[in-house]
Amino acid sequence: MVANPTRLFPNRAEPAGSLPFADGAAASAATRAATSEKLLAVEHLNLEYRTRERIVRATHDVSFDVYGGDRFVLLGPSGCGKSTLLKAVAGFIQPSSGSIALDGETVRGPGADRVVVFQEFDQLPPWKTVVQNVAFPLRVAKKLSRAEANERALHYLEKVGLASFADAYPHTLSGGMKQRVAIARALAMQPRVLLMDEPFAALDALTRRKMQEELRRLWEEVNFTLLFVTHSIEEALVVGNRILLLSPHPGRVRAELNSHQYSQDSFGRSDFQRSVARIHQLLFEQTETVQ
Ligand SMILES: Nc1ncnc2c1ncn2[C@@H]1O[C@H](COP(=O)(O)OP(=O)(O)O)[C@@H](O)[C@H]1O
Ligand SMILES: [Mg+2]
Repeated sequence: MVANPTRLFPNRAEPAGSLPFADGAAASAATRAATSEKLLAVEHLNLEYRTRERIVRATHDVSFDVYGGDRFVLLGPSGCGKSTLLKAVAGFIQPSSGSIALDGETVRGPGADRVVVFQEFDQLPPWKTVVQNVAFPLRVAKKLSRAEANERALHYLEKVGLASFADAYPHTLSGGMKQRVAIARALAMQPRVLLMDEPFAALDALTRRKMQEELRRLWEEVNFTLLFVTHSIEEALVVGNRILLLSPHPGRVRAELNSHQYSQDSFGRSDFQRSVARIHQLLFEQTETVQ
């Protein structure tokens, strides 16, 4: 058994200066959650896979709430059930117990109000150009005309800096560019929650950092709500304003943290490094009493 889940920062409205991780740093208005409207409510969620031989429990009794404008990160070691959780929120997997609600409605299957960006570079059909890739789901799911879909697709391609590649085919793009197209395609759908499963994990380190920075900039410009999965502590601190720490398999909630005070510029700062060390300890020292 792991220690009881600990809410290190129980009150979202608490001033940053009073938080153990903040070290007196004040959070700017731009990095705080945009609204206090609860969008996603996950309660006592148990997720499992049933194979012929056995049942694999992926998560145990996981609860969390995501508010409008949050950049909510699920952080935990490989195999702790992060992807399974995200797939359940996306509606691809049904809970064995517990519940997921979006805007107060129980999630019962996939919907255009939740769009997923995956890690893989091959999530774009290779026979469609960049703009066709972004426009296609708008025509199918949003029933937009060709002209409307193209216009919206170009708008979001501009946001990710790829307007001039609109007529290129995916195989001519770098990994980072493909992920930008996938992000543009997801944002163009204007989902209630954007779901991202380790979207930068297959990129080289420098591109990965750049993409984290761009995601933050996009969030400030476009104002979406994000549920982001990663096993990288640094990435969680840079991308997220709130972080849910999950224990190793099966995933249980270890703690919930505020991280809105950090950005790309925080790398290398001593308070950032202290937070990384502290989270590492929380994730891997199971018997430690959390204070
Ligand atoms: N299709 C599946 N069938 C059986 N077990 C699975 C399946 N997918 C994942 N698992 C198991 O569920 C657990 C959680 O997996 P996953 O959600 O992929 O973890 P993470 O994304 O945190 O690495 C792991 O033990 C994994 O082996
Ligand atoms: Mg995963």
